[in-house]
Amino acid sequence: MARLLHWIVVMLLIVQFTIAWSMPDIHGGMRPVGLIGWHLSFGAAILAVMLLRLVWRLTHREPAAPDTLSVPLKRLSRGTHVLLYTLLLALPFLGWANASARGWPVRLFGAIPLPPLSTTGSRLGLWLGDVHGTVAIVLLAVIALHVAGAMYHLLIVRDRTVQRML
Ligand code: HEM
Ligand code: HEM
Repeated sequence: MARLLHWIVVMLLIVQFTIAWSMPDIHGGMRPVGLIGWHLSFGAAILAVMLLRLVWRLTHREPAAPDTLSVPLKRLSRGTHVLLYTLLLALPFLGWANASARGWPVRLFGAIPLPPLSTTGSRLGLWLGDVHGTVAIVLLAVIALHVAGAMYHLLIVRDRTVQRML
């Protein structure tokens, strides 16, 4: 289950970033149609999968870090995973709060309406849109570190860490 959810989120994120960078610049008075609508839908789906993933992680023990890693690298690996969970949960909430401030309804899987996280026109909610864009870049940087870690296991340490995630 942890492996399945890991790769589902990777695929959803590839789609989500592609949409985010292809959708039109958002100005006041726009409606969440077309790619913007897809961005809200995929974002809500990522939040749902991440919540399920968090529940799974908290109720199932993580496999021990391989002994091939030094203590500082084990800490870095663990810290990166905690940061990935934190960013992937925070990012959709920030986007959702921004959507609510713009008066845009957010639905899960196109069907289940989610409550607004801020009032329409809220200055805080509108500002959280900027935070959302910045946090998305931070997420990309942390993902780069994570993939570098995976490559370090695969090509340098040559243990079975990557294989156990496949
Ligand atoms: C992990 C999930 C998400 C990722 C990776 C993501 C990524 C991004 C990125 C990179 C941008 C900036 C696009 C640009 O440069 O113009 C953006 C903008 C935006 N996203 Fe998301 N997003 C996610 C989830 C969501 C969710 C769940 C919602 C709402 C329900 C949302 C609503 C928005 C809105 C409204 C903007 C425009 C913000 C503004 O310009 O003020 N996002 N998103
Ligand atoms: C969008 C990109 C990615 C995200 C957000 C992400 C996120 C995560 C998270 C949060 C974990 C912690 C495991 C857990 O607690 O469930 C993890 C584990 C792992 N990821 Fe990724 N990952 C991404 C891409 C990749 C890629 C491209 C690879 C391989 C090339 C990879 C290889 C691994 C491995 C091997 C582990 C397991 C480490 C272990 O068994 O201790 N990840 N990933």
